Amino acid sequence: MCGIFAYLNYNVPRSRKHILDTLVKGLQRLEYRGYDSAGVAVDGGNDKNWDNNSKVIQLIKKRGKVKALQDEIYKQDLLDFDIEFETHVGIAHTRWATHGEPNAVNSHPQRSDKNNEFVVIHNGIITNYKDLKKFLESKGYEFESETDTETIPKLLKYMYDNRESNEISLSTLVERVTQQLEGAFALVFKSVHFPGQVVGTRRGGPLLIGVQSKHKLSTDHIPVLYRCGKEKKAVSTLPRVDGDTCLYPIGEETGVEYYFASDASAIIEHTNRVIFLEDDDVAAVVDGRLSIHRIKRTAGDDPARAIQTLQMELQQIMKGSYSSFMQKEIFEQPESVVNTMRGRVNFDDFTVLLGGLKDHIREIRRCRRLIVIGCGTSYHAGVATRQILEELTELPVMVELSSDFLDRNTPVFRDDVCFFISQSGETADTLMALHYCKERGALTVGVTNTVGSSISRETDCGIHINAGPEVGVASTKAYTSQFVALVMFSLMMCDDRLSMQKRRQEIISALRTLPDLIKEVLALDDQINSLAHELYQQRSLLVMGRGFNYATCMEGALKIKEITYMHSEGILAGELKHGPLALVDKLMPVIMIIMKDPTHTKCQNALQQVVARKGRPILICEKNDDESKLLAYRTIELPHTVDCLQGVLTVIPLQLLSYHLAVLRGFDVDFPRNLAKSVTVE
Ligand code: G6P
Repeated sequence: MCGIFAYLNYNVPRSRKHILDTLVKGLQRLEYRGYDSAGVAVDGGNDKNWDNNSKVIQLIKKRGKVKALQDEIYKQDLLDFDIEFETHVGIAHTRWATHGEPNAVNSHPQRSDKNNEFVVIHNGIITNYKDLKKFLESKGYEFESETDTETIPKLLKYMYDNRESNEISLSTLVERVTQQLEGAFALVFKSVHFPGQVVGTRRGGPLLIGVQSKHKLSTDHIPVLYRCGKEKKAVSTLPRVDGDTCLYPIGEETGVEYYFASDASAIIEHTNRVIFLEDDDVAAVVDGRLSIHRIKRTAGDDPARAIQTLQMELQQIMKGSYSSFMQKEIFEQPESVVNTMRGRVNFDDFTVLLGGLKDHIREIRRCRRLIVIGCGTSYHAGVATRQILEELTELPVMVELSSDFLDRNTPVFRDDVCFFISQSGETADTLMALHYCKERGALTVGVTNTVGSSISRETDCGIHINAGPEVGVASTKAYTSQFVALVMFSLMMCDDRLSMQKRRQEIISALRTLPDLIKEVLALDDQINSLAHELYQQRSLLVMGRGFNYATCMEGALKIKEITYMHSEGILAGELKHGPLALVDKLMPVIMIIMKDPTHTKCQNALQQVVARKGRPILICEKNDDESKLLAYRTIELPHTVDCLQGVLTVIPLQLLSYHLAVLRGFDVDFPRNLAKSVTVE
């Protein structure tokens, strides 16, 4: 839910202003993860002698967006912003409240005590925090916030206060603390007792480390250090951090900078060399050297973490000429769907090859059932493609909301194949559903947009949708790419079926022209903007359709709700007479999606019913559908494509409409109230 960012410069002189600006910018890149409050911790004091300054930690925290924190930082007349640090650790956090209202005290970094001896930033949730709090209170530790996180620095201080030797390292203390924590977390620590050092760890929350150095690095794989021997003898049996077990720069002046972050968008402007941490890794930087420890070795563990080179470009995450990320992402769809298909669909010989599935496709073909699982927009991508999956695989297909799937303890068997659809690859409910299915022996397939995310790593195989970074909280281009990825999968499943060849060729030909048709739909933007001018003061909007376009209704209504705060409902036209018709009168705007597919006649019946109740249908229909147009109050005319891909085109007018409605209603399109891009708590 939250965004974490830390910056360590070792033997690289940086002014305090540079450090704070780096922290603030890192947070701004992560703001989509949550944004009700933010905070930083840096070395305090204005002494030219760093040793003195690093004994004081300065916390600055503020309710509101990162901009509010930035203003607060520069109001601090106690800080000398020009003072320079050879070595320094700063940690920063943007929060999306789960425990305790958004205010300065509840925001992070959370601290161990009034002297800020240990400070921590946390993404996730600690489920046993009440027990920990009770224990710490019984030992005399006083709490100031309502957060679950505050137990962590206090527990750390407890471990420190009760240490058996002065030789103990921060990473050992952190290991001991995490052994007591239940729940999901990514954490980064800083302490006055360990100046110039930083420690980060994760279990269920994302965390990566970017490295930047002018000097050659000692290795491109960091071997993981395992605690050997009996666990109780932890400290003495931990292997020493020396040359071949950690990462360090080689050169005369061994300057190096490390960036810890929840995701790569926050660090890519500094470096493209990153290490993705695994669950239970404890990564520590001491004297500019990064080492990774694990508590114990388990079968199948990778004994090293590779330094990967990210391909992401900064401009990919910048807004460019658009007024918001969401608008940019809507208009990127002609390219993003091409990127999803690139190198995978051969339009000349009508073949589809998904590299991430090829070793498992025979097993998948033998399965008894497909279960497609996701939340929000990702769930809708499953609904949108269910019919074509059923048709081309001839398998029963269940589409499930992750939370409900878990609530029901849904029976899952070894011969099921379970798909986990998630843009971020980090959504807690979807991740838990993945663990649930793995435990039951099903084959798991990830469909994500984030390389190195938990879901992409933990599934047996998968499809990376390659839509590029999506920043707007309301998902748009990820949806159309998930849609195309699932259609590609269904095509790959039936490539050896003679009876399906005609249908396959029809769909593959339609995939080829899809980007141009998306451009045609985007060209309707002005028309949709003028429709938004007519509708923006309404309180409610109904979106109706059926068959291949039912998912568009749900997804369109979700977009409207998310960013315009209007009530909106996606209605299956087949259910009209069973309730929703009661809502229709001459004031109620009803958007109806009627395409020339097998449901055309039935949709027209629904249209007649709405007109008969004096409703004002706004029709999203095909260009030559004169019959339907006759009854419409307003029309948005779309090009024709094959039935199972029509939903990619029909959703775009609704993405644009929600965007224009939100702008006209004066809301922040990219940062809707109460919502976050990446929901890493249940
Ligand atoms: C949040 C986001 C949605 C997204 C959903 C699922 O609700 O605001 O845009 O569709 O989570 O996220 P995922 O990353 O799993 O696709």
